[in-house]
Order: sequence, then C-alpha cells, then structure tokens
Amino acid sequence: MTVTLITGANKGIGFETAKQLLELGHDVYIGARDLKRGEYAAAALGARFVQLDVTDDASVSSALATIDAAEGRLDVLVHNAGILETGLDGPAALRSFDTNAVGIVRVTEAALPLLRKSSNPNVVTISSSAGSFWAVNNPERPEFGLPLALYSASKSAATMLTVQYAKSHPGIKFNALEPGTTATDMTAPFGIGRPAEESARHVVRLATLDPTGPTGTFQDEAGELPW
Ligand SMILES: NC(=O)c1ccc[n+]([C@@H]2O[C@H](COP(=O)([O-])OP(=O)(O)OC[C@H]3O[C@@H](n4cnc5c(N)ncnc54)[C@H](OP(=O)(O)O)[C@@H]3O)[C@@H](O)[C@H]2O)c1
Repeated sequence: MTVTLITGANKGIGFETAKQLLELGHDVYIGARDLKRGEYAAAALGARFVQLDVTDDASVSSALATIDAAEGRLDVLVHNAGILETGLDGPAALRSFDTNAVGIVRVTEAALPLLRKSSNPNVVTISSSAGSFWAVNNPERPEFGLPLALYSASKSAATMLTVQYAKSHPGIKFNALEPGTTATDMTAPFGIGRPAEESARHVVRLATLDPTGPTGTFQDEAGELPW
C-alpha cells in the first residue's frame, strides 16, 4: 500500500486530496497542526493522523518518527499546508515564509530518509501561479493584478525549492502544482474558486505519477506553467 503524508490536510484542498487518495487505496496520514481539527478530519475520512505544524521542527520530526515507526517508509509527500497573508510588514513576511517556504524545507529534510526507502518516492508541492514571475508580469493573467506580495514571494520560493530538490535528489520526483483557484477558507474573503474536489484531482494526478513520471516541473491542470 502506498504510504502518503499530506500536510495541512484537515480542510480544503489537502482534505479533498486525502479523500481521493484514500479511495485509490493509499494509506493516508493527515498532517494537521491542531490536534482536534486533525483527529476530527482523519476520523471523518478513515485516515491516520499525525500532529504536524510545519513551522515547528520538533513537531515535524515527531510526525515523521511516528510514520517511520509504523510504516518504515514514505512513498508520497504532499506539501499542502499554506497561509495567505494580506499585510506587508516584517512579522507577516516571517509568518508567510516560515509556513509556505521554510515549512517545505523542514518537512522535506525530515522525510528524505523515509522517502529513500520507497520504490517510487514522490513529492508534490502545492505552490501557486501567484509565485510565477511569468504570470505576475503578464497583463493577460489574473496574477498580474494580485496585491499579495508575501504570498507570491513565498510561493516563488516554494517552486524554487521544488526545482532545487529535484536537481539534488534525482531518485525522487519533486513537482510543484498550481491547483487552480479554489473555494476554501483561504479564498473565502475574495468569494472565488471552484470546489476543492476538482482541484484535488490535479494534486492526485501528480501524487500518483509512475516511476517514469516527470520531476522538477511546475504545472497546472493544462500542463507545464512558465516559471
Ligand atoms: N485555494 C486556492 O485557490 C489556492 C490556489 C493556489 C494555491 N493554493 C495552495 O493550496 C494549499 C491549500 O490551501 P487551501 O486553499 O486548501 O487553504 P485552507 O483551506 O486555508 O487550508 C490550508 C491548510 O494549511 C494548514 N496550515 C496552515 N498553517 C499550517 C502550519 N503551520 N502547519 C500545518 N498546517 C498548516 C491549515 O490548518 P489550520 O486549519 O490549522 O489553519 C489548513 O489545513 C495552500 O498551500 C495554498 O497556498 C490554494
């Protein structure tokens, strides 16, 4: 059975991805920073739960140690946890980068020994086209007018980390995804987006790549996205 960890999976796109991967027979660990929200989500889906705050090194090590003790390996890691800060100051910048970029480093570094024990290790990063230099400079794209400097910059970092990890670990697939504008708690203030089930299908597509699948790419549902 494929062992899968999804960070920030207690709601939104992560929760729907967990649901769909469970339906495909994955052994899914819901990572959530809040014990109650995580346990509730895992119980609703029939998934496993690990407490995992991507901004907390001890929490990340302990979550991966739990999976190691139970499974001895990790096949699929989905970096889904993310926040959207609308302000622009030092504390908001630290929070944005801590969760959206440094969190990826913390979880990847803790997961690498377990991923190396998989026969088809696969890491999917839910990044954003808001972090694409091409999109934010293209007046025909909605990202051109997005006043979300910290979200965009931290997602650019998430995409770059994906590329750098892909280069330094050729035996492991690392791909970044723009999941599509989705109606979740994150986008609720803007009143936009499609159902999370639809976006989760694209996460699932990358999370179920076979060993010959691509690595080091940045994609949306239409294919590769310009950086
Ligand atoms: N919605 C969109 O249109 C869209 C578009 C492009 C990319 N994305 C990306 O997709 C991912 C999922 O977003 P979403 O739309 O599903 O938003 P969401 O419903 O707000 O879900 C975000 C999840 O991340 C978790 N999280 C936040 N900080 C965390 C931390 N420090 N440690 C662990 N988990 C943490 C949240 O947990 P709590 O419940 O504890 O807060 C929640 O489970 C994000 O990376 C987002 O940037 C979304």
